[in-house]
Amino acid sequence: MISKFEYATLAHAEDAQHLGHILEQCYIMSAGDSELYINRVGLENLRILYQNQQVVGGLAILPMGQWWGGQCVPMMGIAAVGIAPEYRGSGAAIALMQNTLKQLHTQGVPISVLYPATQRLYRKAGYEQAGSYCIWEVLTENIQIKEQPLPLQFVAPSNYEAFYELYQQQAKITHGYLDRNQAIWLGLIRPEDQETVYSYFIGDKDQPQGYIIFSQHSTEDDSAILRVRDWVILTDAAMQTFWSFLANHRSQIKKVRWKSSVIDSLTLPLPEQTANIWRQERWMLRVIDVVKALELRGYPPGIQTELHLEVKDDLLTSNNGKFILSVANGHGEVRTGGKGELQLDIRGLAPLYTSLFTPYQLQLSGKLQATETVLSVATQIFAGVSPWMANFF
Ligand SMILES: CC(C)(COP(=O)(O)OP(=O)(O)OC[C@H]1O[C@@H](n2cnc3c(N)ncnc32)[C@H](O)[C@@H]1OP(=O)(O)O)[C@@H](O)C(=O)NCCC(=O)NCCS
Repeated sequence: MISKFEYATLAHAEDAQHLGHILEQCYIMSAGDSELYINRVGLENLRILYQNQQVVGGLAILPMGQWWGGQCVPMMGIAAVGIAPEYRGSGAAIALMQNTLKQLHTQGVPISVLYPATQRLYRKAGYEQAGSYCIWEVLTENIQIKEQPLPLQFVAPSNYEAFYELYQQQAKITHGYLDRNQAIWLGLIRPEDQETVYSYFIGDKDQPQGYIIFSQHSTEDDSAILRVRDWVILTDAAMQTFWSFLANHRSQIKKVRWKSSVIDSLTLPLPEQTANIWRQERWMLRVIDVVKALELRGYPPGIQTELHLEVKDDLLTSNNGKFILSVANGHGEVRTGGKGELQLDIRGLAPLYTSLFTPYQLQLSGKLQATETVLSVATQIFAGVSPWMANFF
């Protein structure tokens, strides 16, 4: 099937324009929006699929990192996968994904993440569910937190680089958080339509303890919404200030929305359980290089043990085989060989790696096989809070 198509990085500028038109049609975008998107992502990060010299479709690669166990693992985000409608249903998308993954493997990339419009396609390419993206909502009248221990300092959103260091502190300790690509930062501060983006440090300018970036939207039923586009909260004083600041919008703003984990600690200071998840999705991860992925992430510091895995990967064949993962002092080392006591397909490795599901749950859903003893070793190694990230791409 792959031979029907030709895969390439961008050869001619007019092909980017052609791909832009396909993406506009695929994603129901306004004319011209793809140009903004492509400029943000960078021409060098586009991949194109041709058939008889015609552009059939393509995708964007977003070079990033992702925090796992306190370590930042190099990660390639995949976005804007699109195939022109007249070429659909004949294996174009899977050919595009398989070629991309082979290329990333050759480049030594450990992992890749994407948001699926359909799981079937990406499962075929070796991705599996690996973490959450949740938008929470609360009525401003239900926040009822009045004390504001810290001042807020306005920062022009165009100075968003001032937020990097604070973001990094939160990212490091949040299982699944991104080391963001520039395109994602730009998306956070870019106003849509006629809206304005506002941003503030929480705390003193010299020693901020967090920040908030948001925009305000009126709705048809006259109940305005404040959307928190991004937040960092590093202290309990910053948490209180965040809530009281939002509550003080209640004369005009009916609801506040923010992104957080499925189990959201931001909701803990609220007086009642009045916050709800408004939207929830799971992103998918693919382990591209088993050895690198396992060695580059961090592990719980207090354990010293070994896990013998046997991995099956039909696409990237060097991932096939038996591996021994030795964990000590929060680090993992991998060598080939061993007893292959935990058997899994490359897809099953994704939610195990990210701790979205426990090894027991993965065994129950047919994603891996192991004895009780081996499952409990795997449970210790891959223990972690529910993985999530605050960005959709
Ligand atoms: C989704 C899209 C990329 C699929 O392209 P395509 O070339 O038709 O896909 P393929 O022919 O390579 O299909 C590969 C596999 O995915 C499955 N698949 C493709 N589109 C699917 C869909 N919308 N729903 C469920 N499964 C789908 C196919 O059935 C096939 O699996 P199978 O061989 O087991 O039957 C294309 O429909 C598209 O561009 N859509 C608009 C943009 C979009 O939604 N992109 C995805 C964003 S994550």
